[in-house]
Amino acid sequence: MDEPIRSLEAHLNKIGTTVVLIGAEALSRRHPGEHPDNFGAGAMALPETAEGAAAVISWCADAGVPVVPQGGRTGLVGGSVSKPGEIILSSERLTQIELIDPVARIAVVQSGVTLQRLQEAAAPYGLAPGIDLAARGSATIGGMVSTNAGGILAFRNGVMRHQVLGIEAVLPDGRIFSDLTRVVKASAGPDMKQLLVGAEGAYGFVTRVVVKLETLSTARATALLAVPNAVAALTVVGHLQGVAAVTLEGAELMWRQYFLDSARVHDFDMQWLEGEIESILLVEISGESVERATAELERALEAVWEEAGLTGGIVAQSLDQARKFWSLREESEFIYRLHPNAPSFDVSIPPGAVDGYVATLRQRLASVGSGLDAYVYGHIADGNLHLSVIGDGADAAGNRAAVEDAVYTGITDLGGSFSAEHGVGTEKRDAYHLHGNPERRAVAQAIKAALDPKMIFNPGKVPF
Ligand code: LAC
Ligand code: ZN
Repeated sequence: MDEPIRSLEAHLNKIGTTVVLIGAEALSRRHPGEHPDNFGAGAMALPETAEGAAAVISWCADAGVPVVPQGGRTGLVGGSVSKPGEIILSSERLTQIELIDPVARIAVVQSGVTLQRLQEAAAPYGLAPGIDLAARGSATIGGMVSTNAGGILAFRNGVMRHQVLGIEAVLPDGRIFSDLTRVVKASAGPDMKQLLVGAEGAYGFVTRVVVKLETLSTARATALLAVPNAVAALTVVGHLQGVAAVTLEGAELMWRQYFLDSARVHDFDMQWLEGEIESILLVEISGESVERATAELERALEAVWEEAGLTGGIVAQSLDQARKFWSLREESEFIYRLHPNAPSFDVSIPPGAVDGYVATLRQRLASVGSGLDAYVYGHIADGNLHLSVIGDGADAAGNRAAVEDAVYTGITDLGGSFSAEHGVGTEKRDAYHLHGNPERRAVAQAIKAALDPKMIFNPGKVPF
């Protein structure tokens, strides 16, 4: 272990706090997560308590050693990247589910609990965290707070910010900030804990979270539908939201090329589809029983079929088949196997403007380089699109600035966001400066200076 981590170890021994420290060799045997440079620091501290985290952070603040908070390392924008001289502060041992209260409908968890573990712990009470996303098996609640995660239920329940009632975190000077409010209503002045949501670890290290829980409905019906465009998909979505006997649980749109390639790599039978397709909508609803949900879904689709211009559809006949439908949408890693350097984006567009945005985007990409195009897929009910820019023979990665221009231009005027749910990290820093709101940036910078004057918390991320 190098010098800083040896001194930290001596300090922790002196004050008698249990924090596991591991160096480069032990790290090399672990998975770095979504970014190859996540373990660049070569040293990691794993506290079991907020006090342990505070002891590490206080020492780092005194010694001027930068701290890089890490959760499940599933982030897609380089928010957990670290380099030599820094210390990774991991929530890996903060794994207690402290309370599930079915009466208050809340959970209190340490920040390293994965979303899936919380889902599994809440399910026996008929409850769920109200937020769900593809990386549920590894994404941690602390990481989801720090990126203000969104996912597939945001159109209904809002994003992580809206599911978080309380937060405990260690601030950059080592103070423990504890606001473990358990109620929805708290208008007692500015809600400072919300500053930690979406701050990507730049304002502090989240150690404990109070999460609001929602009703879990397990009786589901799922369909894939061929729709001509996003407006048609939204027509189906609106219709399903108006059916009193069911609840919409997901509405995910996959544009043609994404769907066809995903279907091919997942070996998905497409005989039910006839003719050309434009896009495929995955919808899932819940109801009082699987039979009732299925019958309601079939009836609703019949009612909206013509108005939405549907040209094909298949309702899952089993849970296995429904899972297969979801895998087409959620197992998107094939993109990087087929197109290793494809630049990826995560934007929000007001849903009604999605068709216009996607058409303009394709034109703009084609003028950046002939053959350039994009996989488009995402959470259509809230307008969150995931884009991966690909092209036969055209160099998307080599034209990064022009590609970013093509993707981001006009989003602010539409009222959307250049980063919907993945954060800024290291990869969206240019966009943050070019497309972020200048007043919002200035306020964020002033708060950073107040909380972390030495700039030791997650340096180089977001704008800092
Ligand atoms: C998803 C991730 C990429 O929706 O946000 O699959
Ligand atoms: Zn997503």
